[in-house]
Amino acid sequence: MIRLLHLSDVHFGAVNDRLPGPIVALAHDLRPDATVISGDLTQRARPAQFAAARAFVDLLPGPVLCVPGNHDMPLWNLGLRLLAPFARYRRAIGPELEPTLALPGAIIQGVNTANPFVWKSGQLGRSSAKRLTTAFAAAPPDVMRIAVLHHAPVPAADGTPADMADPAAVLGALALAGTDIVLSGHTHMPHAGFAETAAGVLFLQVGTAISTRLKTDTNDFALIEIGADTVTQHAWLARQDEGFVQSAKARFLKSSTGWRALPDAV
Ligand SMILES: [Fe+2]
Repeated sequence: MIRLLHLSDVHFGAVNDRLPGPIVALAHDLRPDATVISGDLTQRARPAQFAAARAFVDLLPGPVLCVPGNHDMPLWNLGLRLLAPFARYRRAIGPELEPTLALPGAIIQGVNTANPFVWKSGQLGRSSAKRLTTAFAAAPPDVMRIAVLHHAPVPAADGTPADMADPAAVLGALALAGTDIVLSGHTHMPHAGFAETAAGVLFLQVGTAISTRLKTDTNDFALIEIGADTVTQHAWLARQDEGFVQSAKARFLKSSTGWRALPDAV
């Protein structure tokens, strides 16, 4: 059983200052095998915001795998945005925009979906798709193949369409690469489920872990337990003055025909 801590959209520059302390303490209590942050580490990609994000990452239980989000590219500095959109991210968070992490029983591949040429929606570039396919093809056959993307090619929890170029093609590329699980953020709304057209790909989204940019009534993150053919997503929600408290869990079983949801009590 692998335990992954999944945080997203921490948005340093727009952080609720009461939350980083409790989430760091809880992160260690939960003893994950790895921590994943699915993009938007900063609010406006400013150097001081990246420095704060880096300090936060350093406090989390490692290894920590991060991917950039649309907020991690400078918005107003057009020269930097177009010529070196990820220079500040690389300097602070790490040189690799699409890191790979191999754990016993899982391979986790980061995918950079942030597109400097558009305002906020995502894309799956050809080289990213190729990298994902290559990493998953090289992994042992029986491990869970987990892709980490800031943007997901499926609707948000409230039905908002996927904020991504050609989501049907992205879904097809993820399925073709052999993806079992996608961890993502961007919508600031937690969600779990799968698309009917790609029943073998389970989408697990979390909201914003610690930022003030709420789209739901509170902050959240997830602890994900991954077995040989099962996944359990435990939601943790911020509660006023209590830090984070454990909330609902969602369980899924993978068979040869794809994923299906399991009743909570089983
Ligand atoms: Fe965000």
